[in-house]
Amino acid sequence: MTETTRRTFLQQTSLASAAATVGIGCSTIPPAKRLAKRGPVIISTWGFGKPANELALRTLQDGGSALDAVEQGIRLVEVSGNSSVGLSGKPNAAGVTQLDACIMNGPGHQAGSVAGVEGVAHPISAARLVMEKTPHVMLVGRGAGWFAKEEGLKVLDTAKDEASYKAWLAAQKKSSPGNGDKPDNHDTVTLIVLDTNGDLAGGCSTSGWSGKIPGRVGDSPIIGSGLYVDNEVGGAGATGLGENVMRYCASYQVVENMRLGMSPTEACAEAIRRIARTDPAGMDLAINFIAINKQGEFGAAGTQVNFPYSVTTPDFSEVRKGQALGLAIQKEGGNE
Ligand code: GLY
Repeated sequence: MTETTRRTFLQQTSLASAAATVGIGCSTIPPAKRLAKRGPVIISTWGFGKPANELALRTLQDGGSALDAVEQGIRLVEVSGNSSVGLSGKPNAAGVTQLDACIMNGPGHQAGSVAGVEGVAHPISAARLVMEKTPHVMLVGRGAGWFAKEEGLKVLDTAKDEASYKAWLAAQKKSSPGNGDKPDNHDTVTLIVLDTNGDLAGGCSTSGWSGKIPGRVGDSPIIGSGLYVDNEVGGAGATGLGENVMRYCASYQVVENMRLGMSPTEACAEAIRRIARTDPAGMDLAINFIAINKQGEFGAAGTQVNFPYSVTTPDFSEVRKGQALGLAIQKEGGNE
């Protein structure tokens, strides 16, 4: 641990202790202003979130809002050539890439999302425009694409990319014979910002389940499933198999767990344990969560062993491992 990292850790720890002293129940959350003037903290899913976090941090340092930081960070991933985010994402069963995204702003509890959009280079920006320019929360399919174009976003012709689809299908069959319809790469970017005023914003963006039935929508654009931000408590977001997240409003669960006083890591882990107690698949769920609370504590947990997530502050930027639940729980033969 470097000196600056250690200092940040100690700052966070003492802030957390102070918060614990006053209690983190729903009626005792310290107001944002009492927590103000700490450095910002940005978390995101996977290692590829790290450059997105760093751009988000620069956006804040240049005077942008938490919402601007979320949008800029995710836009970077959307054009990075990622195979499950943006137009470079894997296509659906008809050979067309359909994208989902959502965004939330803590102050005012605002939300916007788009689902099943085709040809939209930056679905996160389309989600923000839905939030800011319409009375709605969610637009889907052709309507969402039309809206994005009307608002001046780049929307490409979505003619089926036959060549890359065939190459992808061939690779799928080679790597997992008989399982061409299973998701092979499912790495949503979910990014959450806590700014120096103690305000939160978050977003996520994905091409979802590769080879999905056209029109399938995952957890990512569903508020409370792929993402949830409550400016009094914290924010949480998901990556993994959306079907196993959206049936449980899982990100909402994580935030509510933090409201009850759990640490971000424990809040993620408890949501997974609760889902696994109900779900016929048990811990075989392929779901991972990140979370950050109002005090700037952060954490992650997943059924995937060593689920990586990225954390960035003005003092450090690194990829960490979330708490791994799947194998440990299965070995113990039960759900805790
Ligand atoms: N988590 C992304 C999806 O399942 O679509």
